[in-house]
Amino acid sequence: MRQRIALVTGGCGGIGTAIVRKLARLGHRVATNYRDEARALAWQARMRGEGIEATIAAGDVADPLASEAMVRAVERELGPIDILINNAGITRDATFHKMSYQQWTEVVNTNLNACFNVTRPVIEGMRERRWGRIVQISSINGQKGQYGQANYAAAKAGMHGFTISLAQENARLGITVNTVSPGYVATDMVMAVPEEVRAKIVAQIPMGRLGEPDEIAHAVAFFTGEEAGWVTGANLAINGGHYMGW
Ligand code: CAA
Repeated sequence: MRQRIALVTGGCGGIGTAIVRKLARLGHRVATNYRDEARALAWQARMRGEGIEATIAAGDVADPLASEAMVRAVERELGPIDILINNAGITRDATFHKMSYQQWTEVVNTNLNACFNVTRPVIEGMRERRWGRIVQISSINGQKGQYGQANYAAAKAGMHGFTISLAQENARLGITVNTVSPGYVATDMVMAVPEEVRAKIVAQIPMGRLGEPDEIAHAVAFFTGEEAGWVTGANLAINGGHYMGW
């Protein structure tokens, strides 16, 4: 297998950590961004304890200039980015009639505008080198909507619109662009949902359980592989049967 350089945004989080671990164990060199340096350093030490050397670079993906600086810092340390996983995401749940403009914009900036902010400085190099793998981590709630998540569902649905446009523009240049749409996975984000609400959600999952971060990372690894070179513009749902749209 050829070693590639991978950038996973939000790599210190629940699903992000599993993706970093998976890509590193496949032999790639992996980097992530951070907003909180102390938390990132602790995470990096934890990864090192597992035998994984992950690069960390400062930069909030909601900020275009900070994102570009973060990408350049990763390139200086590791080299040109071949694999980009737009994974960073936040929730600010509220029913829409109670939602503030701040709750709306924070989610759209971090979950959707970040796709522009981080992919824009990466794409030209991929086009020049005629190889790239880009994966958006969207959500089941971008596909089916969710009570209390008009902001998040709009941003997550937008991520797949981004995927299918970018996939068309770059298909002839050896660059694939795909989306993975996880359902409810056992991470801090899902655990922050009030317990009684979460119990009702889990009751709707045919598999009867939350997903594991590794189950998402497995799919991301598939899309980033050399062998997946003819898979582009796809949206893979991984949700325990919770939503089966097609
Ligand atoms: N369908 C119908 N009615 C619902 C409902 C649903 N799914 N969820 C809540 N309601 C109803 C309640 O029963 C309640 O009704 P009554 O007033 O008649 O009792 C009413 O809505 C409550 O509305 P409020 O505006 O007062 O809601 P709230 O301020 O108490 O909180 C909420 C609402 C923040 C949305 C809360 O229900 C919540 O956190 N829901 C979970 C949202 C969720 O799934 N988030 C996912 C986070 S994880 C993630 O995003 C990862 C991923 O990609 C999957």
